[in-house]
Amino acid sequence: MAEYTIKVRRFQPESGEGPYWEEFNVDLEPSLAVLDGLLQAKDRDDGSLAVRCSCRAAICGSCGMKINGQSGLGCKTQIGEAQELANKKASAAGAKVDNAPIVIEPMGNMPVVKDLITDMESTHWTKIRRVTPWLLPHGDPPEREYVVEPESMIDITQSMACIQCGACVSSCLSMEADPDFIGPAALAKAYRFVGDPRDAETHERLHDLADDPHGIYDCTHCFSCIDACPKGVAPMDQIMRLRRKAGEEGIEDPNSGHDHEMAFVKIIEKKGTLDESLLLQESFAPGVKGKLKPSKRAIREMLGSIPTAIRGIKTGKMRSLSKLIPGVHHKLPDQDDVKAIYAHAEEHSEEFNLYIKGEEGELIDENVEKGIERSTDPDTAEAK
Ligand code: SF4
Ligand code: SF4
Ligand code: FES
Repeated sequence: MAEYTIKVRRFQPESGEGPYWEEFNVDLEPSLAVLDGLLQAKDRDDGSLAVRCSCRAAICGSCGMKINGQSGLGCKTQIGEAQELANKKASAAGAKVDNAPIVIEPMGNMPVVKDLITDMESTHWTKIRRVTPWLLPHGDPPEREYVVEPESMIDITQSMACIQCGACVSSCLSMEADPDFIGPAALAKAYRFVGDPRDAETHERLHDLADDPHGIYDCTHCFSCIDACPKGVAPMDQIMRLRRKAGEEGIEDPNSGHDHEMAFVKIIEKKGTLDESLLLQESFAPGVKGKLKPSKRAIREMLGSIPTAIRGIKTGKMRSLSKLIPGVHHKLPDQDDVKAIYAHAEEHSEEFNLYIKGEEGELIDENVEKGIERSTDPDTAEAK
């Protein structure tokens, strides 16, 4: 048994006062969960401490919260590990402590209802409904169930592991900047249906998500949702799959998101490094080297990007003015190695399915035969 101090961000709307911090001392085995600490504090010190929970086994998705600044589940985070992280953070800030308070806050990007309880409806569930989270098959339904090959479902099993806890939404940096962003959980859910062989509206779904200025191209690829997700859903990977499928379907989005993505691919293939001076023209006038395609849209977008370029120079992101001249940026000397990576990736596109690990042809076929998926999350790596 060890003693821990938990520092909880409280908000009691009925008091009429703003949020405040309160510390509680709790005694627990280090292997018990942060949620157990909160429940002990509620039991022993203050029954008004509000926390949502149900299963206490990382299944129901009720206990999303931020622990030491990281979004996750209170019932899946061991209090001993949370203490280690709190100590690390304190020592990084210059304090020498063995028992820094474990900081617990409500999830981010959502209104707080009371203490650690957030309003999941206004953000999370509204966005989930936005992506039409049900099958849209065409034709008459079969007499009994739809029968699909097990292999064809492997690709969506990862997104099916979601327990709707909202931890990814809480951690999403894009949503912080753009609250209208559809977000990681809803887009992971969208892939669950886009990838389902029974769904007949794949193209329409992809078009919708690519057309929306707050859709698949609003993700900045920051990896936060992957770190936060307690079930290994890796929402960012699902968004990248949606983007890849939208590209394969030849969907031209009004945000130039696909062209912008391809601009990165092309420039790095050519130079081995990112020549940012080429990004704008390759994003808005793709395929033209060294000069602009004189389309109205390309010119409008380029002009609109000038303030961003100026900010880049002012803040030192673009250190040298010469880097602004398209094509001046030098190539990396080991350019052939970069091209070899591209060639390998082209030939082994199946390996981009990040849910299936291992070498091509290794255990995968055998596992498929047995109906076993290999997952990043031990909870979902089981026979189905
Ligand atoms: S990777 Fe994209 S969806 Fe995930 S947290 Fe970052 S911005 Fe949000
Ligand atoms: S994707 Fe992961 S973090 Fe996001 S709601 Fe689902 S289980 Fe929670
Ligand atoms: S209480 Fe159910 S997931 Fe934590």
